[in-house]
Amino acid sequence: MGDLSSKTGWWAWSTKKKVLIFGTVALVIVALGVGLGVGLGIGLRNSGDDDSDNDNDGTGSGAPNTTTPTNTTVKWQPAVGTKWQIILKSGDGAAISTSVDAPIYDIDLFDNNKTVISDLQKMGRKVICYFSAGSFEDWRNDAGDFHDTDKGEDLDGWPGEKWLNVTSPNVRKIMQARLDIAVEKGCDGVDPDNIDGYDNENGLNLTKSQAINYVNWLASQSHSRGLSVGLKNGGDIIDSVIDNMQWCVNEQCAEYKECDTYASFIQADKPVFHIEYPKGESTNDNKSVTTSQVKSACTANSSGNFSTVIKNMGLDNWVEYCS
Ligand SMILES: *[C@@H]1O[C@H](CO)[C@@H](O)[C@H](O)[C@H]1NC(C)=O
Ligand SMILES: *[C@@H]1O[C@H](CO)[C@@H](O)[C@H](O)[C@H]1NC(C)=O
Ligand SMILES: *[C@@H]1O[C@H](CO)[C@@H](O)[C@H](O)[C@H]1NC(C)=O
Ligand SMILES: *[C@@H]1O[C@H](CO)[C@@H](O)[C@H](O)[C@H]1NC(C)=O
Ligand SMILES: *[C@@H]1O[C@H](CO)[C@@H](O)[C@H](O)[C@H]1NC(C)=O
Ligand SMILES: *[C@@H]1O[C@H](CO)[C@@H](O)[C@H](O)[C@H]1NC(C)=O
Ligand SMILES: *[C@@H]1O[C@H](CO)[C@@H](O)[C@H](O)[C@H]1NC(C)=O
Ligand SMILES: *[C@@H]1O[C@H](CO)[C@@H](O)[C@H](O)[C@H]1NC(C)=O
Repeated sequence: MGDLSSKTGWWAWSTKKKVLIFGTVALVIVALGVGLGVGLGIGLRNSGDDDSDNDNDGTGSGAPNTTTPTNTTVKWQPAVGTKWQIILKSGDGAAISTSVDAPIYDIDLFDNNKTVISDLQKMGRKVICYFSAGSFEDWRNDAGDFHDTDKGEDLDGWPGEKWLNVTSPNVRKIMQARLDIAVEKGCDGVDPDNIDGYDNENGLNLTKSQAINYVNWLASQSHSRGLSVGLKNGGDIIDSVIDNMQWCVNEQCAEYKECDTYASFIQADKPVFHIEYPKGESTNDNKSVTTSQVKSACTANSSGNFSTVIKNMGLDNWVEYCS
């Protein structure tokens, strides 16, 4: 229950933060363009490529930054355009509703038990299990396993969540245990969130190359357990991880005009599970959105074959699809 409101807070934060980031990126681009003239392209490329650093940690298995798939025997590759539903919370704390007819469900790893997952699968559905891989959440039952030194700044606007040091062997050990839970519960795949701390004030000096290493590591850990995996947001690192991903989950690319970036998944024959939140931060009701809101969510450039859902930020059962 705490999680419902907090999740709402996090999404809300995420939206505001994105606006901020956009402003910053625009400023940086302007500064580079003005200051360096021709150097713009080179400057941006270098910042993405600069090191492959440090991340071979004690728990090992720091996957190399490679575009070679970590495991060519991935069990489940969903098709482009597959309809999906994401429901992290029920409205009232009871079991999630399975009433929406969609062949893929993305549900919270911790808040749903094995029975809920196998019931979905008996209905012919695949189940993706959501967890936060890049933030500490103080209400989870493994919260005590994190070291204080693993934690960075609070996720702004959402007390109880802190950015994590994704190079920490301890963090990685905890994530391996979470992947083991996903296996034990019978999930078909996982949706590891918050891998883009580098794009936020995180207090840990997280870098893009650390995120690339982490996401590729999560992929190899998932694949070796028979789980499929997708990239959550993280548009800047797509090229360095896409070969190891079976899909991506994107929030608000239509709102922020970023759908072109994520369309590289479609070109690679991998679905883009795309969420828009036209109601904004604080409205979580069962009402339809307007025709023009549907149009904005569903007709963004390059989003033609995306698997788009229009959702409340609370990620409850309510959903609208593009017609
Ligand atoms: C699984 O969760 C559902 C819904 O919350 C509950 O009704 C059921 O008793 C649980 N089953 C087990 C085995 O814990
Ligand atoms: C993150 O973890 C790595 C590996 O343990 C460590 O070397 C590094 O100092 C940590 N970063 C911070 C900011 O504490
Ligand atoms: C982050 O980098 C800055 C500049 O190099 C340094 O002063 C600061 O101590 C670093 N912070 C952490 C948590 O490592
Ligand atoms: C690849 O994944 C399969 C399960 O899908 C697993 O049995 C196998 O051990 C994995 N191989 C490697 C090298 O990780
Ligand atoms: C990772 O590999 C990709 C593809 O070869 C490359 O574009 C990217 O720059 C690499 N990233 C790092 C941090 O080495
Ligand atoms: C939306 O509908 C669900 C049942 O589908 C109900 O549990 C929930 O309370 C409703 N929410 C609102 C805000 O009316
Ligand atoms: C879509 O692409 C066209 C042509 O490239 C461009 O003129 C238009 O502004 C774009 N629209 C949006 C919403 O990005
Ligand atoms: C979607 O994919 C189909 C099949 O590849 C293609 O023919 C069609 O042009 C695509 N639609 C859009 C809007 O990109």
